[in-house]
Amino acid sequence: MVIKIPKQPIFLLLLIVLVGGSLWLGMRSGRQETPPSSSPTPAVPPTPRENVREIEVTAKQFEFSPDPIRVKLGETVRLSIISTDVTHGFSLPEFGINETLEPGKTVRVEFKATKKGEFPFSCSVFCGAGHSEMRGVLIVE
Ligand code: CUA
Repeated sequence: MVIKIPKQPIFLLLLIVLVGGSLWLGMRSGRQETPPSSSPTPAVPPTPRENVREIEVTAKQFEFSPDPIRVKLGETVRLSIISTDVTHGFSLPEFGINETLEPGKTVRVEFKATKKGEFPFSCSVFCGAGHSEMRGVLIVE
């Protein structure tokens, strides 16, 4: 009789531990199931990439094409310039660009159109009788 009384709280404690433990386990396994079966969350939209404008430019005696080159303010401009005949140059002083264009080799230049306006570019390598007239305009709108 005297022994039975202290035993009961131990059983009670055991019961609590067992019930509590199984509940906890149940919650855990429940939680583990939830994430995979939870709705296929829509993919996070890709962070807006920098605006890049890629333009192919051809140089030949004695013109650039396209001319004018039109871009938008704030765009990162990537020009792929190729000469289809002799060696020319591409000089766009407003954006610190001056490249030599050897025939058949694509030259890539990149700059950010940070200001609005019309900026002249020109051939910077003597290429024949029309060299001094070989020019164009970059328009940043
Ligand atoms: Cu083309 Cu000088």
